[in-house]
Amino acid sequence: MSRILLGVTGGIAAYKSLEFVRLADAAGHSVRVLQTPTSRRFVGSASFEALTGAPVLVSEFDEDPARGAFPGQQPPGHRPLHHLELVHNAELYVIAPASANTIAKLAHGLADNVVTTAALAGQCPLVVAPAMNANMYEHSATQVNLTLLRERGVTIVGPDAGKLASRGEHGVGRLADPAVILEECEQLLGASGSWHGLRVLVTAGGTREPIDSVRFLGNRSSGRMGLALAAAAHRRGADVTVVAANVALPVPENIDLRRVCTAAELAAVCEQEFAKCDVLLMAAAVADFRPVEAVEGKLKKAGRDRMLLELEATTDVLSALAARRSTGQILVGFAAEHGEHMLDYARSKLESKNLDVVVANDISSPGAGFDVEDNEVVVLTGADEVHLELASKREIADGILDVVTRLRQGSGATVGDDGRAPVRHCLRALPTRL
Ligand SMILES: Cc1cc2nc3c(=O)[nH]c(=O)nc-3n(C[C@H](O)[C@H](O)[C@H](O)COP(=O)(O)O)c2cc1C
Repeated sequence: MSRILLGVTGGIAAYKSLEFVRLADAAGHSVRVLQTPTSRRFVGSASFEALTGAPVLVSEFDEDPARGAFPGQQPPGHRPLHHLELVHNAELYVIAPASANTIAKLAHGLADNVVTTAALAGQCPLVVAPAMNANMYEHSATQVNLTLLRERGVTIVGPDAGKLASRGEHGVGRLADPAVILEECEQLLGASGSWHGLRVLVTAGGTREPIDSVRFLGNRSSGRMGLALAAAAHRRGADVTVVAANVALPVPENIDLRRVCTAAELAAVCEQEFAKCDVLLMAAAVADFRPVEAVEGKLKKAGRDRMLLELEATTDVLSALAARRSTGQILVGFAAEHGEHMLDYARSKLESKNLDVVVANDISSPGAGFDVEDNEVVVLTGADEVHLELASKREIADGILDVVTRLRQGSGATVGDDGRAPVRHCLRALPTRL
């Protein structure tokens, strides 16, 4: 969990900074907010106060009832110079949206309100997310100002191209997605850094086994969960390789991507990569059976009422990898099961396949599982059973990585450590960051 100070300036996109606060809070960070007076014409302080649970400062002369403390911190006994205390106490300062006006002030060292003063006084990393009309953004004054900031080590996120917040406007100047801004922040914070140096191999998506040149046997896995795990591992500083089976979603940047189609192709890439990895997250839905023979060309219907398709078992990739695991590697399997015996099946998978963790999800549960944004899972280890309640796949991914972190730190169960009675936890996703 990190202390993030958010500066909000005057522009239509100011309402999106509420979403940034919501995401940062859900990811376990504690957030305080500074606003320029103009920004309050767009979004009131009460909304930020409700989301952060802390007062908002709009002027250097505002009294800060929290005395510079972030949510979860004890306020100091003395009365500090409040407008500076907050930024001194922050681990990162992000200004989103940053207006053209504020960007110009930052570039030239002006300190005429609480947002710009904090930027000048702060020593933590500064992230600036511009949002404005396309002409304002493309104006050479704004471009020079952004270059100055970049040269000074400020991280600029966005803006994106597309429909702008002001009605009827298009072009470059749209505030970057709040989730992307948060990812940049987390990268800088090295909250991320806790997995620095680890190599993580993730499989995502669903394999397709050809029946003929047109048709295949496939499954409904979109790859969302695998990509969320890859992004979460990357945010924590790991080197990540994703073996993506038929994934049509955008893949996070800076991730080594290997695209595959069939179970055999997925197995071959995993074989190559496995020995190098510290953590294997096997989220792909891999076919258990494939047609014995894939027909060249297209099978014809003519004259047939029915057709038998002969299938043969594919190699069990996870068991094969687990058989040659080395000390210290953590292997995480996934079990998508239907109904009441889900946990029994997941526990038997944990034991029979020699895994450290099995993430079980009940695919009969509404709103969770295949090809949706959310998930709800039980994370089983040799001694623990952690229930992660319905949440975004990003939050679920963080919850799963937290369990892996605990195993790596030796405070949880490891393979063969199943003499103890399972401990049951019921958590909202992401209760802690280790
Ligand atoms: C309706 C409206 C929308 C605006 N949207 C933006 C914007 O998206 N980006 C921007 O840089 N300025 C925008 N402005 C202009 C800023 O509000 C103005 O430059 C102001 O001085 C910014 O103050 P601040 O940087 O102290 O918050 C907008 C103004 C109005 C009236």
